[in-house]
Amino acid sequence: MNNSTLAGQIKSQQGDYSIHVGEGILDKIYSLSKNEINNSRVFLISDIKVFSGLGTNIIKTFESNSIKVESLSVELDETKKNLSTVDKIYEWLHEKGAERSDIIFSLGGGVATDLIGYAAATWLRGIRLIHIPTTLASMVDASIGGKTAVNLKRGKNLVGAFHQPKLIIMDTKSLSTLKQREMNSGWAEALKHSFLFDKDLFNKFKNNHSKLLNKDEPFFTDAIKRSVEIKAEIVSKDEYETGKDRIKLNFGHTIGHALESATSYSNLLHGEAVSIGMVVAANISSALSYCQENLVDEIKNILEAYNLPTRIPKNINLDNLYTIAKSDKKVRAGKINWVLLKEIGESKIVNDVPDQVVTDSLRSSQ
Ligand code: GLY
Repeated sequence: MNNSTLAGQIKSQQGDYSIHVGEGILDKIYSLSKNEINNSRVFLISDIKVFSGLGTNIIKTFESNSIKVESLSVELDETKKNLSTVDKIYEWLHEKGAERSDIIFSLGGGVATDLIGYAAATWLRGIRLIHIPTTLASMVDASIGGKTAVNLKRGKNLVGAFHQPKLIIMDTKSLSTLKQREMNSGWAEALKHSFLFDKDLFNKFKNNHSKLLNKDEPFFTDAIKRSVEIKAEIVSKDEYETGKDRIKLNFGHTIGHALESATSYSNLLHGEAVSIGMVVAANISSALSYCQENLVDEIKNILEAYNLPTRIPKNINLDNLYTIAKSDKKVRAGKINWVLLKEIGESKIVNDVPDQVVTDSLRSSQ
């Protein structure tokens, strides 16, 4: 086992940065972040759900190293991921006199990294940021790569900016209190990385699922670390999603996002919707003979082993679902960029999948 907590080094036009992953590493938050803090003031913004446990410990650790922390906790969930919450953060930053040379720490899950990231991207035209993601999905996905966003009434993540953090610190111990459904939802994104890029990781997920579901160490932290490394490699190659690399992370998301929208973001967690979307994408891949038929079962079986749904709920109207998918913000000139699988570890982007193939695949996935 590798004892270093360094899981990746992101190459970015906004400045390269490190990602640390380890069990219990929040105890070392001061030594991990002191170079970034230097003489600046620290503004910790937390999701209220994790403030009393993790946030107060972070403040104590900093204070025992003579660092004063200004702290704000906010209610954060998908319904609060909007400009009015961002405005509350601006008001607080203004009241505390936060300057451009100061530094924000975000503490929470994907809504926290997206929304606090957006506030950091825009406050005084951009202030430095360190993420401390506390859910599996935000560790393996949302916190890495600088995407920040808030929702508008007209759609999810419609306003945002690329604002890379200066450092990301992931303490896998903070997952010990995460609800099981949230954990499973995070596994969907980690599994996605293995489907797209890493057969060895896929085999690890396949052969060790009970150990991983039980959070047995060192398997647990090592699997998260590998998944983080993959995302870091992809972001480093294609920071602004202008090439053919980062868009692949959209595997399962075309139908996943449409399912979230069709169910008004209330029935399915993001990873659950993506899980179903990955099965649909695998069905399309098989229907077009890009992959062997048994790959669909391989994908389904492993998702089910991680307690993830693999069928479109019966009450969903499939025509409506496809119409929503066609209006996704990633559609270009009316064409969906489907990320399809050739085999585990190899994918391709296809933008001319015939409607009939999609509707048949949707039907066979319900
Ligand atoms: N969540 C996909 C990306 O960061 O590009």
